[in-house]
Amino acid sequence: MKTLLLATLLTSSTLVATDLNTTQALTAKQEGIKYIKMLGKALKKELQAKLLADMSGVQALEFCTRQASEITQEVNKKLPSYAKVRRTALKVRNDLNNTADTLDTQVMQTYVASIDKKTFTPKDIKVVKEGNTTRVYKPLLTLPVCLKCHGTHVSPALKERIKSAYPNDKAMDFKIGTLRGVIVAEIKKH
Ligand code: HEC
Repeated sequence: MKTLLLATLLTSSTLVATDLNTTQALTAKQEGIKYIKMLGKALKKELQAKLLADMSGVQALEFCTRQASEITQEVNKKLPSYAKVRRTALKVRNDLNNTADTLDTQVMQTYVASIDKKTFTPKDIKVVKEGNTTRVYKPLLTLPVCLKCHGTHVSPALKERIKSAYPNDKAMDFKIGTLRGVIVAEIKKH
């Protein structure tokens, strides 16, 4: 009887602990999604405006080259000190600021695998805990608009500018529907 009671107690306390963890993970997930949206929107808004103003893509490219990192920093300044948001990819253009770490790479590889198996959905947000930090990943697929600067037929004018700003550029030759990269939010326990 005693053993049974202890077993019950243990089980219920495990349950409580799991519940607590889940609640915490959910909160971090929601928070992460919020910050991912902040960065995604800020970049998208400017990119669209610049592409509309100049269909050649030169203005949009200048914007991405000069301001993508700046906008990322500005968005980060608005976040609480325990949080951070950034972009990365398996093949990056900006190898100084956007290179993936091991965990990023693993998560992106699972996205690529699910795209290959056709089980992927763009809503597939991945939440990964690493020590006291929760990472939240949102996949970014290559859309037709991305091809202008990341596709197989990038105009010579843009290509030249990209090469000179990013001598180690790997972010070319993407096809529609493939994984272009991810936005990652990192939420530290607080
Ligand atoms: C006008 C050109 C242009 C277009 C259009 C464009 N990008 Fe980029 N992209 C760039 C440049 C330039 C960088 C490097 C920015 C930097 O220095 O951080 C970049 C960087 C990125 C990165 C960060 C990782 C890396 O490679 O450094 C991601 C992710 C990304 N682009 C996704 C997209 C997606 C998704 C689209 C379409 C919705 C898109 N881009 C459309 C020019 C463009």
